[in-house]
Amino acid sequence: MSEKSAPLNFTQLFNDSYERLMNAGQHDFFQTFYQHFVAASPEVAAAFANTNMEKQYDMLHLSLMQMMSFASDRRANSYLEKVATRHANLNIHSNLYDLWRESLLKTVRELDHQYDAQVELAWRITLAPGLEFMRAYGQLAS
Ligand code: HEM
Repeated sequence: MSEKSAPLNFTQLFNDSYERLMNAGQHDFFQTFYQHFVAASPEVAAAFANTNMEKQYDMLHLSLMQMMSFASDRRANSYLEKVATRHANLNIHSNLYDLWRESLLKTVRELDHQYDAQVELAWRITLAPGLEFMRAYGQLAS
């Protein structure tokens, strides 16, 4: 009799990966992400040319947690709406969100020692609702 493996639990795969990364060093994670993101395009580099990056790391940390909560309950809140409106006002194009996601995945791949295709898919699935919200909310609200 062949044994069937349990269905993949993407919530758990994501949560375990996130916990490993945060335990290994929160600052390292967000700093590495912005290094990749800024290196990914001159447009991104220009957008952050005058930004206080230490402050930016904390803001991304907070917004990432809000995106996780959005992924599980699909409820926007005033924080997410404010961040999405700010990005719409900054004229952030849709394709830059793809770069944002790929830079984040590159960071996870480098820093999570248990990274594999399942962990990658768990990150993609978890980030997707928040990314689509960020992409579309600007037009929705205008
Ligand atoms: C889902 C993806 C993203 C998240 C969660 C996110 C998160 C944030 C947050 C929380 C802030 C601070 C908002 C505030 O001032 O209160 C911010 C600012 C900013 N973001 Fe994003 N962001 C995302 C995607 C992007 C993309 C794709 C770009 C493209 C270049 C971008 C460029 C910027 C810029 C230029 C600022 C302002 C920096 C400054 O104040 O100097 N973001 N972002």
